[in-house]
Amino acid sequence: MIIEPRMRGFICLTSHTKGCEQSVLNQIDFVKSKGEIDGPKKVLVIGASTGFGLASRITSAFGSNAATIGVFFEKAPQAGKTASPGWYNSAAFQQEAKKAGLYAKSINGDAFSDEIKAKTIALIKEDLGQIDLVIYSLASPVRVHPKTGVTHRSVLKPIGQTYTNKTVDFHTGVVSEISIAPCTDEDIDNTVAVMGGEDWQMWMDELLKAGAIADGAKTVAYSYIGPSLTEAVYRKGTIGKAKDHLEATAFKITESLKSVNGEAYVSVNKALVTQASSAIPVIPLYISLLYKVMKEKGIHEGCIEQIQRLFAERLYTSGEIATDEAGRIRIDDWEMREDVQNAVAELWSKASTETLPELGDLAGYKSDFLNLFGFGFDGIDYLADVNEQTEIEGLQ
Ligand code: NAD
Ligand code: NA
Repeated sequence: MIIEPRMRGFICLTSHTKGCEQSVLNQIDFVKSKGEIDGPKKVLVIGASTGFGLASRITSAFGSNAATIGVFFEKAPQAGKTASPGWYNSAAFQQEAKKAGLYAKSINGDAFSDEIKAKTIALIKEDLGQIDLVIYSLASPVRVHPKTGVTHRSVLKPIGQTYTNKTVDFHTGVVSEISIAPCTDEDIDNTVAVMGGEDWQMWMDELLKAGAIADGAKTVAYSYIGPSLTEAVYRKGTIGKAKDHLEATAFKITESLKSVNGEAYVSVNKALVTQASSAIPVIPLYISLLYKVMKEKGIHEGCIEQIQRLFAERLYTSGEIATDEAGRIRIDDWEMREDVQNAVAELWSKASTETLPELGDLAGYKSDFLNLFGFGFDGIDYLADVNEQTEIEGLQ
């Protein structure tokens, strides 16, 4: 079968196994090029198949020789249908870990469920005993609550008043004005239930109860803040309420990890093109301007550069972990630099369909988006037949 990108709205319906493999290989090469990190040895990554979670798994394994267990929710290939990219990424990761002699096993299923938590913990107990780092990197639009059975759906809306601003359809490059009506109270509760900290806390409670957390272990979840431009729809919108909850949960988890001298952190990461962020209105326009500015200043990073820096310069240095006034680790420091934000704000005011190709890095956005699905990589023959029988080694 020859696989081509097939776009529908903010998603791509196909993904390319060889290209996903290339993306994983590139990330492994990057991590190795930065040298060894005196980091974690037994790592659980929840949300391990794409984006920041995959980068965390790769950094743990190939930067710190860690054994990794990855949990994710991906679709296997079926007759006439490609797998979701995280499936191919994980297949490639597992294959490379095996070659390197690194322990790696994967669990595909709903991380919000009791069943997947129990299965993961049983695997940890059997194979690794205890974990010294838990990365929590889920991004999901929906959560079935394991105790109530209620299905919560997250929304991306402003709170209190309609938000109107520019947005771009990154496929066509058309810049238009979008108005997003304010959410209901129920929307806030639902978004907090999906993307807040309750599930992270549940994972840590269960792991702790099972004796699966090593002395001095760390756990890290990922958050975002961003500029005032996107505040109404992001940090002060429904998703921001969920991130507030996630950040507050870190303190609670640290409290419950006292018995094992453990610590929970939230790391605030940079805005990047991922499946999760491309669905948020306004954010793609911001990202395309941000990329332009950060690339010009030579400070652009992708997920792997961000997470390698998180491990090497924040989490695993001697001495205290540097945090901001709210106790958060900041690797969005370069994004939030005043010179960067001033430049983005100026470009924002001038951005239109006509000016964006020049002012923004729309090409970089599109290329990153295609890369998420394994398309657009150098060295891959996209006209060649691909074998869709990919299986994930070490899948439980
Ligand atoms: P992503 O979509 O690339 O990754 C999501 C991961 O979660 C995948 O591995 C997916 O399989 C897994 N997943 C989703 N639902 C699941 C379920 N029910 N059970 C098991 N696994 C499930 O997203 P991302 O952008 O890497 O986001 C990860 C975290 O980083 C999120 O908390 C996000 O808010 C945060 N973050 C993202 C950005 C950004 O710009 N992309 C910036 C800062 C912080
Ligand atoms: Na992730």
